[in-house]
Order: sequence, then C-alpha cells, then structure tokens
Amino acid sequence: MGLFWKVGLINGAVLVAAAALLVLGPFSVSRRPVMSEVVVLGVGLLAMLVVNALLLRSSLGPVDRVVREMATVDPLHPTDRLATPRSAPGRQLVAGFNAMVDRLQDERSASNAKALAAQEAERHRIAQELHDEVGQRLTVVLLGLKRAEQRAPAELAADLALLRETTREGLDDVRRVARQLRPGVLEDLGLASALASLTTDFAQHSGAQVRRVVTPGLPPLPPDTELVLYRVAQEALTNAARHAGATSVELSLTRVGDRVALVVADDGHGFDVRREGAGLRGMRERARLASGELTVTSDPSGTTVRLEVPVTAS
Ligand SMILES: Nc1ncnc2c1ncn2[C@@H]1O[C@H](COP(=O)(O)OP(=O)(O)OP(=O)(O)O)[C@@H](O)[C@H]1O
Ligand SMILES: [Mg+2]
Repeated sequence: MGLFWKVGLINGAVLVAAAALLVLGPFSVSRRPVMSEVVVLGVGLLAMLVVNALLLRSSLGPVDRVVREMATVDPLHPTDRLATPRSAPGRQLVAGFNAMVDRLQDERSASNAKALAAQEAERHRIAQELHDEVGQRLTVVLLGLKRAEQRAPAELAADLALLRETTREGLDDVRRVARQLRPGVLEDLGLASALASLTTDFAQHSGAQVRRVVTPGLPPLPPDTELVLYRVAQEALTNAARHAGATSVELSLTRVGDRVALVVADDGHGFDVRREGAGLRGMRERARLASGELTVTSDPSGTTVRLEVPVTAS
C-alpha cells in the first residue's frame, strides 16, 4: 500500500471512530457549551491527536530511519546495503534504494572497466611508439657515436664517450618507461617473470630491499587477470617507494585453495587506510574486474596489500 493511502486511512479511521463515538456515545454539545462539555471535547480531541500520532509514527518511523541510513551507504562497497525493515513503506523504500545502488554500482563497474581498457590500450600504444620510434632512433645515434668515436681525433674522444654514455642512459630510460607502460614480459614470459623484473626495477630505483616469493607451478590465469595482478603489484610497490619510507618490501604470489594471492608487504610507517587516493581506488576497481578481493591493512610498523583472485576468474 502506498504511503498516501496508508496516512489517509489512518486519519480516516481516527476521524470515523471519533464521529461514531460522538453519535453513539452519551455526548452532546449545547448551543452555549458548558464547562463539562468543553472538558469532554478537549479530552476527546487530545485522545484523537495522540492515537493519530502513535499510528503515524509506527508507519512513518521506518521511513525516517531509512532516510537517515541512506546517507551512510557507500556505493563503492558491494556489501554495504540497507537492512530491510519489517513494515511496508520502509521495506519498499529500502528495496528501491538498494536496487538503485546496485544499478549504480553495475554501471560504475562497466564504465570503469571501459576506462581501464582504454587506459591499457593507450599505454600499449605509447609504449610501442617509445620502443619503436624513440628507442630505434636512440639506438641509431648510439651506433653512430660508437663509429664516430673510433675515427675521431683523440681530443674529441672524451666528449664523444660522454655523449655515448648519456645516449645509452637515455635509451635505458626509454626502455624502462616502455616496460612500465606495457609489461611485454607479461605477455611473453608470464606473470612470474614480469613480477621478477618489476621487483628488480623497484629494488634498483627505491633502494629498498625486496624479497620475492613466487610459488612454482601456479595455475595458469587468464591474461586479463594476470594484468590485474601485475598492475596491483606495480601500484603497491610504487606506494611503498613513494610514501612508506620502507627499508624492505616483500612480494609474494602463492596459491590459497582455489585462489591465487598476491601480497605486497612493506615495513614502512603506515597510513590511515580510510584515506584512499586514485591509486588505491584503481587497485580496488581492477580487483573487481578480476572478481578478486583486495584488502589493505596498515599500522605504524608497515602496510600490507593483499589481492586474492579466483583461479577460475574469466
Ligand atoms: N605503503 C604505504 N605506506 C604509507 N602510506 C601509504 C602507502 N600506500 C599509500 N599510502 C598513503 O595513502 C595515500 C593514497 O595512496 P594512493 O596510492 O591511493 O594515492 P597516491 O599514491 O597518493 O597517488 P597516485 O597513486 O594516484 O599517484 C598516499 O598519498 C599515502 O599517503
Ligand atoms: Mg599511489
């Protein structure tokens, strides 16, 4: 029953009861009301108001409660939904609200998946261009410099050697950036090798010690899931390097039942995990793409990022 009808019926029932009592009861009102009649009328009116208020409260109360709770629901968390009240208007409101949050979440996930796919495609394109265009050109320059060095007069040798060294460093940088943009090893050699090269890069550039534990013989995962695991590991390591002040980081990839678990744990100073930025939100979105579960725990002795994905994830 709609809210309008419910309120209308309650008011109607109270008024009908009052009218029936007036007609059937021993009440009368003189043309000039006397005190005792005014008192009876007053008491009757008060009783009507109280009964009406009580009935309305019992049917509208759940609606108020639901409206208050709506503000606390976080659409990002799939399990965060309102509990269904027992009585009708509240129940309908909650059902409608929860269905709307579900739809919002579905649409968000779909558009996030699209955005992430577009981002990966763009990274792929930039990486290829860096590798094929900039990388090739730098290689040509490097080879030219080597040849020039052999034929150049002695007084130019030092300058040319310096140029050659700088060009080689530039080429390394280009290759490193291309690798970060598109983990080619992931496609060519698989997740374990890609994580190995990621942790090696990380150790070189952060100065922190890295321990890597990858259980051999992990079940094969779909390429999309491998990319999700790789990107989450990449962001977790980047965070450990940028924010944690960690001296050692451990990355592990193991099998837990019918799931594969990636854990990146640092010994840094930790942070308040409720203050998520784009990086952590991105990890969560990617985890959802792989039907996985991401948990981030942190205290002043370190931060642990854990992602579990089902082996059968598609
Ligand atoms: N391992 C960590 N140790 C300490 N603090 C961390 C760690 N990871 C994240 N944080 C804190 O949480 C914040 C949010 O991290 P998040 O990755 O979401 O965003 P960001 O790294 O600041 O930016 P982005 O990842 O978009 O470049 C960080 O700014 C940092 O303060
Ligand atoms: Mg980050």
